[in-house]
Amino acid sequence: MYRQLYDWFRRAIIDGQMRPGQRVPSTRGLAAELKVSRIPILNAYEHSGAFRMSLPALEHFPIGVWAKLVARHARRPPKGIMAYGDAMGYLPFREAIAEYLGAVRGVRCQSSQILVTTGSQQALQLSAQVLLDPKDRVWLEEPGYPGARQAFMTAGAQLIPVPVDHDGMNIKEIIRRGSDVRAVYVTPSHQYPMGLTMSATRRMLLLNWAARSGTWIIEDDYDSEYRFGSRPIASLQGLDTDARVIYVGTFSKVMFPALRLGYMVLPKDLVSAFSAAREAADIFSSTLYQAVLTDFIREGHFARHIRRMRMLYMERRRSLVNAIQIQMGDTLEVIGAEAGMHLVALLPPGTDDVAVSMKAVQMGISAMPLSTCYLEPPKRCGMILGYGGANPRQIHDGIRKLRMSVRGH
Ligand SMILES: Cc1ncc(COP(=O)(O)O)c(C=O)c1O
Repeated sequence: MYRQLYDWFRRAIIDGQMRPGQRVPSTRGLAAELKVSRIPILNAYEHSGAFRMSLPALEHFPIGVWAKLVARHARRPPKGIMAYGDAMGYLPFREAIAEYLGAVRGVRCQSSQILVTTGSQQALQLSAQVLLDPKDRVWLEEPGYPGARQAFMTAGAQLIPVPVDHDGMNIKEIIRRGSDVRAVYVTPSHQYPMGLTMSATRRMLLLNWAARSGTWIIEDDYDSEYRFGSRPIASLQGLDTDARVIYVGTFSKVMFPALRLGYMVLPKDLVSAFSAAREAADIFSSTLYQAVLTDFIREGHFARHIRRMRMLYMERRRSLVNAIQIQMGDTLEVIGAEAGMHLVALLPPGTDDVAVSMKAVQMGISAMPLSTCYLEPPKRCGMILGYGGANPRQIHDGIRKLRMSVRGH
């Protein structure tokens, strides 16, 4: 029965009857409507979606604690959470973020430098708007994060890909090409998508060069909370002595993406320009959720949740690497540090990873092709596999389907 339900949903997705983000009926509602037990429905819902990028283990989120904190704030005298707020964000929240970043990421800042955003995508968008003029040159990692590309393109910037190798973005290449550049976008803690960490030498080269040339560095630290083998690597921002780094972070991975809360740490000189841009864009982020998250952090739930998820994702990564070795060890090569919520599995050169991804979707799994992260013709092909939101059973089943998508059996 679960198979029939699963096939029905899969068909509806392929035929376009169901759109991305569209709500499916609740398991209870559907069970009542079909007059069946909830078990096959739960199984069918659990069955699809292995390897979706950027999806945390939502079923492990402490929703009870969260709901209590939401209720607590919703009952408070309304002025604080219902009236207009500050474009930079709710002050107690910015103070909690500044403390957290100082303690955990080695970021050096005051709360006055924190701008709360609607996720890090808005931070990239605001950076593009404030820092770039049309035709300005921006260096991006190649392969790199398509969301950053989109944000910088809207400002009419010239995007210049810089190759990444095992030490991260090739800074010597930037210095060699030398020409006048307005900004550099990097993911030094865990390069997106390849999962490598920028070496200490490269970090210093990049910072020195940015100070000499007056270039802005946009540091996207999107999933640095999750490192499994080694100690966390401190941020570039903490090493910057010339106020060139704009640091971007998000709660999408450590909390949940629909919260739409992120932040930037701005050099002091940029605060008023960014604050004005935020005011013009959408004024400020919802105060209720900023206040709730402040308590979630202050009362220790945040640190506890991250600790638990770190263990869980470490296990999920291990399951994925095992499943790949057992089922596809001769076809896929896993690369990247033991960190984050995704890994890249390279396919043999010449494989059409977009075609593999399309076949995989038809089998109910979502695996993003690596080639879509290249601005220029792709040098490597492979799959970007998110493991945060998939349990070991889904992971093993997903790799079996991926094998069928690659080999046809
Ligand atoms: C490298 C990177 N930066 C930023 C984001 C954006 O996250 P959000 O806008 O949800 O904060 C993502 C999401 O997957 C990401 O992978």
